[in-house]
Amino acid sequence: MDNIKIPILNMLKNHKENNPFSMHVPGHKSGTIIHPLTPSGLSEAMSWDMTELTGLDDLHCPEEGIKEAEKLLSSFYQTDKSYFLINGSTVGNLAMILGAIHPGDTVLVQRNCHKSVMNGLTLANARPIFIHPELDCDGIEIGLTASVIKEYLHKYPEAKAVILTYPNYYGMGMELDEIIHEAHRLRVPVLVDEAHGAHFAAGAPFPPSALQRGADLVVHSAHKTLPAMTMGSYLHLQGELIAAEQVERYVRMLQSSSPSYPIMLSLDLARAYIEGYCKEDKSYFSEQIQIIKDYLSNHSQLAMYESPNADWCDPLKLMVYHRGGISGHQLQERLEAVGIYPELSTERFVLLVLPLLKADHKFYMKELIERFELMEWKAGEKPVAERGFFSGEKGNVRKHSELALSFEEMEKLRIKRLDLSHSIGEISAEAIIPYPPGIPLIQRGERITDEMVRTCLRLLENGTKVQGGTYLKEGQIQVFA
Ligand SMILES: Cc1ncc(COP(=O)(O)O)c(C=O)c1O
Repeated sequence: MDNIKIPILNMLKNHKENNPFSMHVPGHKSGTIIHPLTPSGLSEAMSWDMTELTGLDDLHCPEEGIKEAEKLLSSFYQTDKSYFLINGSTVGNLAMILGAIHPGDTVLVQRNCHKSVMNGLTLANARPIFIHPELDCDGIEIGLTASVIKEYLHKYPEAKAVILTYPNYYGMGMELDEIIHEAHRLRVPVLVDEAHGAHFAAGAPFPPSALQRGADLVVHSAHKTLPAMTMGSYLHLQGELIAAEQVERYVRMLQSSSPSYPIMLSLDLARAYIEGYCKEDKSYFSEQIQIIKDYLSNHSQLAMYESPNADWCDPLKLMVYHRGGISGHQLQERLEAVGIYPELSTERFVLLVLPLLKADHKFYMKELIERFELMEWKAGEKPVAERGFFSGEKGNVRKHSELALSFEEMEKLRIKRLDLSHSIGEISAEAIIPYPPGIPLIQRGERITDEMVRTCLRLLENGTKVQGGTYLKEGQIQVFA
């Protein structure tokens, strides 16, 4: 552990040791010229918030500490090239797609992708063929199978890439190696939004990582599961199916020209953290997970959803539901009342994201369980009507869909507003995105179906936060005229 290098930390420490007098941006002058109400922790953090000074390298043209840190990142993940991203996986997905896809290219895209993938496809002016994911036996959208990818690669021999989301928001994976093998056999690159899987490279008990399985371009939100600051992400590249210079061009073009040093430092530290994640840490982590699992399986009110594909499930993600059937949203309120803040809630469950505990992180589970014990339960909670674990339409999924218009056509059309109930069959002019998880329910350019409208109305009714949908609260949606 001690021999794991953290070059950005050394670089910044060296600079601070020189007792520098700031005559440069940012305006807080290393956390000294600040509003009097600035919390001390923030002003201390500002003292690390530097700019491209002598000795501090430049993210956009790395030659010193940042170059070394990115090399260490690449060597840990065993890639050809890896980049620090200071604008989140959002910019990673944009750069990955713009760098690999040309205007008009047909691409096979897993439908339950994050909105940033869709935005990347829009900017690239691509032609996405959405492949709808399998539902597991409880109606939860998981991934795609190799046979489906094979079928669509055959159906669309002009496809220039496959874009996958692995794992899904709930930590569930899919048979990536066979999918990648099939695509590579046809020399089609596979781009993976592995935002939730930066820690998979540590090996079991975590699912296999997309890079180990041979994906060509992979995006990691280091800030989601590693101890990195929000907006800290990685982009990785390997193999010869991708034009590396193109991807790099977009990484440079799309990111801020004033990259945050605290974020870069946290990215370097997060890489060192996962690199030093040893056998003892993993067995301690597994032990601790078992404690919470045992607790939940013996709980009189709560239970934990266990996916049938346990080998592909990330143990950091816990989907907890109420046995009696109070909704996930209500459960979230109960949890928040005792100070437990879940990642998200759905109609059926709440999602808890556990930390990547190391052997020296004692008491975390104990504290969590103590909070659970504070929850209050009322007698005779009313069960949710018989709708299975998830309220989705089990087994009733379309296999694939296309946008009804090209992105180019959409730019030229006028837009009008319609009541949701009258919008079935029209083409949506806006994306409707329940957030989190940020997966569009309706994509811009998609023909609106009866099921979409029903889901939308249900989400509105139960108060789910929705992005997009300017007039949704008034029960209206914008469509192309
Ligand atoms: C699957 C997936 N991809 C990409 C993103 C965007 O990541 P970021 O917030 O790091 O920009 C998210 C964010 O929630 C996500 O869930």
